[in-house]
Amino acid sequence: MHIAKLNLKERSYNIIVGSNILNLLGKHIIKLNIGCDAYIITNASVKNKYGSVLRKTLKQANLNVRFKLVPDSEESKSIAMASSVIEDMVQYDRKRRIFIIAFGGGVVGDLTGFIASIYKRGVPYVQVPTTLLGQVDSSIGGKTAVDLIQGKNLVGSFYQPRLVFSDVGLLRTLSIRQLQSGLAEVIKYGIIKDPGLFNYLEKRNRDILALKPSALEYIVSRCGYIKAKIVQQDEREKRGIRTILNFGHTIGHAIEAAANYKRYNHGEAIALGMLIACDISRDSNLINREISERVENLIRTVGLPTRIQKVSLPDIINAHYRDKKFIGSKNRFVLIKGIGKTKIIENIPLKIIRESLKTRISCAA
Ligand SMILES: NC(=O)c1ccc[n+]([C@@H]2O[C@H](COP(=O)([O-])OP(=O)(O)OC[C@H]3O[C@@H](n4cnc5c(N)ncnc54)[C@H](O)[C@@H]3O)[C@@H](O)[C@H]2O)c1
Ligand SMILES: [Zn+2]
Repeated sequence: MHIAKLNLKERSYNIIVGSNILNLLGKHIIKLNIGCDAYIITNASVKNKYGSVLRKTLKQANLNVRFKLVPDSEESKSIAMASSVIEDMVQYDRKRRIFIIAFGGGVVGDLTGFIASIYKRGVPYVQVPTTLLGQVDSSIGGKTAVDLIQGKNLVGSFYQPRLVFSDVGLLRTLSIRQLQSGLAEVIKYGIIKDPGLFNYLEKRNRDILALKPSALEYIVSRCGYIKAKIVQQDEREKRGIRTILNFGHTIGHAIEAAANYKRYNHGEAIALGMLIACDISRDSNLINREISERVENLIRTVGLPTRIQKVSLPDIINAHYRDKKFIGSKNRFVLIKGIGKTKIIENIPLKIIRESLKTRISCAA
């Protein structure tokens, strides 16, 4: 078992990573002294697979347990869903010792964090992420959000969990596509901060795709450690430090949106966005071709896309202008100077972005 600490004074918390450790969660929660009525937000698919283990460990710790199911889709990240869950939760919260558990992927995690932050101006919550993306990224750092019709994650808060508890054993039932999507974020951490992790991914990607527990534990704990270090220096993304986590996301988000969130999932779009960021870094003489090829080879080897298909250049450019990361009239890119070294550049000329997108688009729709 690996434990990393995210240090934020009185809001500090542990990130625990292990294999087949869900049955130990109750013991860890008891130590936090955050309440005795556990309200678990999840979806039917995750509950069917792992709900009984979760119920048992919480009961053994003398906690009361109530599951609340939300639909299994991004549409659950809405204000309407948040208020409907809260209305249900009020019925359960009679003794005022409630805390919430997010038991699922990033959708459940973001919705739960948001609810925990606004219900009674904040109640404790625990993240128990069940997807690779959730374990390496969305459960850590306290960004909570729901979507509006006008855009994703437009309403939210910074609200830290009291514990992040990642059991990599839960990843055995993930689809390969979901696993690959999470791997895109893992590759991102290697590129922005950790050449050792990047080398490991180059050498051991087969073990990861084969779900070898030691390999999964290594990458999940390493990413948790890196994200914790970044977040504790710049919790609210005010100092330009947390910004590096957006590597690949400026264009990645635009690709996701231009494809109407259908053709590409988050990790696939981010893989393409990272390649564009590498292409621009190379064309700006920040890195040589050998580095951009290493990134492209790794992305291809784990089965993520390297070419943009059936999404048009104008649609990507338009979506890029609508992105939250657009500051005033300036865009902001995280580029790299090498594996593990980033450089933030504002106002990259549209011509350069357009050129690198053109070379990555296979067949314009
Ligand atoms: N808060 C943040 O910092 C942050 C960071 C990155 C992404 N996000 C958000 O995360 C969301 C995406 O998260 P995601 O990729 O985890 O998607 P998701 O939550 O939709 O989960 C993907 C699918 O996997 C299923 N699933 C979950 N656990 C499973 C398991 N153990 N076995 C089998 N199936 C399982 C889910 O039911 C779902 O169908 C987006 O809404 C994104 O905005 C938030
Ligand atoms: Zn991401």
